[in-house]
Amino acid sequence: MKFYPCPRLRGEITIPGDKSISHRAVMLGSIAKGTTRIHNFLQGADCLSTISCFRQMGIEIENNGSSVLVHGKGLRGLKKPEQILDCGNSGTTTRLISGILAAQPFPSTLTGDQSIQKRPMKRIIDPLTQMGAQIRSLHGNGCAPLEITGSKLHSIHFSSPVASAQVKSAVLLAGLYGDGETSVTEPSVSRNHTELMLSRFGANVRTEGTAAILLPAKELYGQEIFVPGDISSAAFFIAAGLIVPDSEILIHNVGINPTRSGILKVCRDMGADLTLLDENQESGEPAADILVKSSTLHGTVIEGALIPTLIDELPVIAAMACFAEGQTIIRDAAELKVKESNRIEAMVRSLSAMGADVKETEDGMVIHGKRPLHGARIDSRADHRIAMTFAVISCLAEGETEITDAECVRISYPGFYEDLQRLGAR
Ligand code: S3P
Repeated sequence: MKFYPCPRLRGEITIPGDKSISHRAVMLGSIAKGTTRIHNFLQGADCLSTISCFRQMGIEIENNGSSVLVHGKGLRGLKKPEQILDCGNSGTTTRLISGILAAQPFPSTLTGDQSIQKRPMKRIIDPLTQMGAQIRSLHGNGCAPLEITGSKLHSIHFSSPVASAQVKSAVLLAGLYGDGETSVTEPSVSRNHTELMLSRFGANVRTEGTAAILLPAKELYGQEIFVPGDISSAAFFIAAGLIVPDSEILIHNVGINPTRSGILKVCRDMGADLTLLDENQESGEPAADILVKSSTLHGTVIEGALIPTLIDELPVIAAMACFAEGQTIIRDAAELKVKESNRIEAMVRSLSAMGADVKETEDGMVIHGKRPLHGARIDSRADHRIAMTFAVISCLAEGETEITDAECVRISYPGFYEDLQRLGAR
């Protein structure tokens, strides 16, 4: 797909539902008693993979294209899937479902696309094995396909070496079926949507510092869930509105949960003109409209406990840094190497191809901004966030930018290019 520079971006936009929250609503709805109605469900391929896995385990799920109705069967109501469960491109589906499958009285096998089959699963295999499940990586490389033989689980106190909501959630979901208190302590706090939603569905869960602590549940109960817009999707319009001159974008209904909204802090640190309007809690999660105006940005340092709160936004933050005065340092972000693609390598290589001054480091990158960028042929590596990031950069790069596998945006934001074009992109 080809993209060209544009003079400005102006208008209003409503962001599709949050991916993390949509996954969790289907999962908890499936193992809850009664019906769960999910409004503004993200119709991205990843969340559809989650629906398809639970349908294969006997859960009736109606999807009318915006809202989803899950007819839950209770904590012990799943049935043995007849076929291999296909998680597609979705790490969240693979890791969170593993936590549930670890406790089921039937064996199952999980797999996904080429990218999923390279992503590290040892991080969930280890704690779930400690809890009593048997999980075998069929190719012996610590990745999917995974064969899971469920068991009666023991509760554990797990100290996770990585700040990962997927690891934390897998252990907590398994802990629902445990024999005592389960806890997960992280090096710093990752997104807490699982904890918030578990509590809403009736589980006994609390947090202490960087630990999430859960008691086994007798039952969960179906809920009505309003999914706020995904800040990770809004990030592309925040960045675009800030860096493209003469722009003003009003982004409606964006989730601003503090464990997710590190990008807002970074933008402010860089000198951005951002205003939050109409802050509310209607969805059970904090949300707001965000007004973005073109701004003169300067470099910053992004590190430490901030990293998990903006991990998926780092590619587009790196893009912003290319248009900021001075140096931006991103460190403590080695997790970027094990996302849908190696996002450090993908960003450094493609930004360099466009003329940016960017250097790869062990756990991040260093960018010197304000070099003029030109169009190039960008290999998205079928990574949705890389494709969307370069579509944003193309608004300011001289000449033509071509993005390969551009349709991979269907993973998290099927209408992304249309929305960007409506604001003025070409
Ligand atoms: C997610 C957690 C993050 C994030 C991913 C979604 C989730 O992954 O990158 O896009 O929904 O729990 P990690 O837990 O691997 O950091």
